[in-house]
Amino acid sequence: MYKSLALASLSLFGAVSAQQVGTQQTETHPKMSWKTCTGKGGTSCTTKSASITLDSNWRWAHLTSGYTNCYTDNAWNTTSCKDGAACAKNCAIDGADYSGTYGITAGSDALTLKFVTKGSYSTNIGSRTYLMESDSKYQMFNLIGKEFTFDVDVSKLPCGLNGALYFVEMAADGGMGKGNNKAGAKYGTGYCDAQCPHDIKWINGEANSAGWVPSSNDKNAGSGTWGACCPEMDIWEGNSISTAYTPHPCSGNGLVRCEGTDCGDGDNRYGGICDKDGCDFNSYRMGVKDFYGPGMTLDTNKKMTVVTQFVGSGSSLSEIKRFYVQGGKVFKNSESAISGITGNSISDAWCEQQKTVFGDTSSYKAKGGLNAMAASLARGHVLVMSLWDDHAVNMLWLDSTYPTDKDASTPGVGRGTCATSSGKPEDVEANSPNAQVIYSNIRFGPIGSTFDEAAAK
Ligand SMILES: *[C@@H]1O[C@H](CO)[C@@H](O)[C@H](O)[C@H]1NC(C)=O
Repeated sequence: MYKSLALASLSLFGAVSAQQVGTQQTETHPKMSWKTCTGKGGTSCTTKSASITLDSNWRWAHLTSGYTNCYTDNAWNTTSCKDGAACAKNCAIDGADYSGTYGITAGSDALTLKFVTKGSYSTNIGSRTYLMESDSKYQMFNLIGKEFTFDVDVSKLPCGLNGALYFVEMAADGGMGKGNNKAGAKYGTGYCDAQCPHDIKWINGEANSAGWVPSSNDKNAGSGTWGACCPEMDIWEGNSISTAYTPHPCSGNGLVRCEGTDCGDGDNRYGGICDKDGCDFNSYRMGVKDFYGPGMTLDTNKKMTVVTQFVGSGSSLSEIKRFYVQGGKVFKNSESAISGITGNSISDAWCEQQKTVFGDTSSYKAKGGLNAMAASLARGHVLVMSLWDDHAVNMLWLDSTYPTDKDASTPGVGRGTCATSSGKPEDVEANSPNAQVIYSNIRFGPIGSTFDEAAAK
């Protein structure tokens, strides 16, 4: 929902990303299989071999010849990067040591992302990865009329962390060939999301170095003049305390490099091209406080299966439904227990009830609601799997009382049981370095094909 800034963090000799291709480290994508399903009940699924790649923001960026950094800690080298185009020409992004530097391991059908990884030259915080179809192309998904299912283990994700599995309308080739982008999807270029993030280092083959301001509270990140906007479908944002699923439509197609008011920054949050709030379904926020959490109906001490159905056809969508499977039992999503809001799934009508009762601005409707989301999904989305902490608002929008100056009993304000003082990056990085999320057993197919819906209680 408030996803933005945060993200990157690495100082390999204090370094990070670029647009030519470096050769100091071979890029070997960790392998992770997933399944496509047909028929009913999850019984006829076929395994597909695949791999993941690491986002370019996390990668070492250095002069194409040699080891001199183009970006150190949270600042650009102003000699090699006197403007964005020159920077992308002079600098290369290199291959990644996935487990040693970034704490990323894949095996069989599972991906584990560790939170804090101390390498020999650097400390890495979190990561963002994309599912690949080939070594140089992202796997594209059209979710309409389909069901997307995966298992998640959030048992080691405390307050303030967000293990996120979601879709964004990135280009399949990562924008290869745009500007000076010679790296492409293989090196994780082309990211965008509905927060129009300004911390993206390379956009459309240029460095985002103009007007770059180093972050005041993140020693590895900063923000440039440009933001990278695109529609986003959050299937899963969660930790062991709270979770939400959230469509975020935008008025543009694919990646739009924004500047000024279009980015919807600060007080102009609702004046940009994307719906930054989205229409979120968080069971706790919807008044059901014993559904999801440690020892609850869905026990976050254990792995669970998350099913999301995109009811619709062509380029239209009427509803986004959620089921869970755990311990052999199939659960319907919890029904809203808030007076004036009925239902257990996302539709435009449900969203309008929710915005009205909670007193929230409906930028979701203003940006086109499910119609706009469907048009975007029909153009194709890339699967993102990430782990992050939140340098802007400590993830309180997901797992605590937010806004913090309101009473938790006010409808829409209580989102989880985490304290309003929790989730500060310096605290979670110091106290929970071994936090991790595991995504596994991804299944995709027509509605009803990935699990036994008839068994739902
Ligand atoms: C910045 O880049 C220039 C070359 O463009 C290089 O000579 C210089 O050493 C770099 N500075 C740092 C601090 O790495």
